[in-house]
Amino acid sequence: MENILVTGGCGFIGANFIRGILAEDDFQGRIINADSLTYAGNPESLADIAEIYADCYHFVRADICDIKAMENIIREYGIDTICHFAAESHVDRSIAGPDAFIQTNIVGTFRLLELCRKYANQLKRFHHVSTDEVYGSLGAQGLFREDSPYDPSSPYSASKAASDHLVRAYHTTYGIPVTISNCSNNYGPYQFPEKLIPLMILNALEEKSLPVYGQGLNVRDWLYVTDHCRAIRMIMEKGSSGETYNVGGHCEKQNLEVVQTVCDLLDEIKAPETVVRRRELITFVKDRPGHDLRYAIDCSKIERELDWHPAESFESGIRKTLAWYMENTEWVHRVRSGEYLSWIRQHYSA
Ligand code: NAD
Ligand code: TYD
Repeated sequence: MENILVTGGCGFIGANFIRGILAEDDFQGRIINADSLTYAGNPESLADIAEIYADCYHFVRADICDIKAMENIIREYGIDTICHFAAESHVDRSIAGPDAFIQTNIVGTFRLLELCRKYANQLKRFHHVSTDEVYGSLGAQGLFREDSPYDPSSPYSASKAASDHLVRAYHTTYGIPVTISNCSNNYGPYQFPEKLIPLMILNALEEKSLPVYGQGLNVRDWLYVTDHCRAIRMIMEKGSSGETYNVGGHCEKQNLEVVQTVCDLLDEIKAPETVVRRRELITFVKDRPGHDLRYAIDCSKIERELDWHPAESFESGIRKTLAWYMENTEWVHRVRSGEYLSWIRQHYSA
């Protein structure tokens, strides 16, 4: 039986990952979700899961930097696998205030690795979920490969780079069985609306201005979140210890094109009331400092070695995402109004 500790499972990708695993027909194990519930952690994203899978899904509010709390979880639940998502994840916030990024992304990962060392006899795998942003920015040509040099630009990507190095060092030095995935930009259900795609969807639905940084020419390689989650699961099950896998969607798009697509699809579904076309809402705003020009992933290693391939195209994924945000109005309302935070305060008062 697998006893999997998922860190940061109340965030966007973690919540999708937990949903995916619990829905597997042959999953016999237990998931322990440890999340400190920062602004980005929303237990309401898993409210139905907590009820349906009460026997094999457990939530513990805990900070990954709190070594005692994490040790208790590892001991109490006999954890044999860790899938580490917990992080501060938003580049703009890292520019405004890097402290929490250093603390959670670097110190928190270090604390978990120390526990892996202490509980080496029971731990079969530590999977570290990372980002392609560690490689820095590409020019017009080229792709990030697993052996591309690290060259992070933002405090976020620098903190993720540091954590990747620590994970590799613990494998090399102490023989901890680790794998790392470096994935491109994700989108899909349950993403906090500070990130480009959900922010644009919700603003466009309300016919508010759509702030595009600079000229909107920066390129990201978009991957639907469930494709990323499936890749992580395959790496945990079949990936070799010590290996890194790049994960991406073969889906490079300029930001402006992404925002225009969101506008056009929404116009199709629901005609706007205050403008003729939602594209008119696009506003070019001051660029992000240190804004990486282009990310693009060479994911041939995971395709070749693990036979992973993205199932969703951008066209199918973005339609699913739009539909999800339009249908889940209660989730959206509670996140946008901040009501989810009062729920957390009520249920988990310190
Ligand atoms: P997110 O911000 O939506 O969620 C992060 C979760 O971690 C939240 O639930 C938060 O409460 C929790 N958390 C933060 N600090 C914590 C702490 N100290 N202790 C315990 N829990 C804590 O992030 P996401 O988009 O789901 O990203 C998950 C992981 O995937 C991150 O490591 C991120 O670097 C990586 N990643 C994200 C993307 C993307 O496009 N979103 C792409 C590649 C990699
Ligand atoms: P974001 O979703 O913050 O992800 P990341 O910075 O990790 O790639 O941003 C994606 C791209 O969209 C990035 O190039 C910045 C840009 N962007 C905007 O143009 N406007 C916005 O309001 C946001 C949040 C992002």
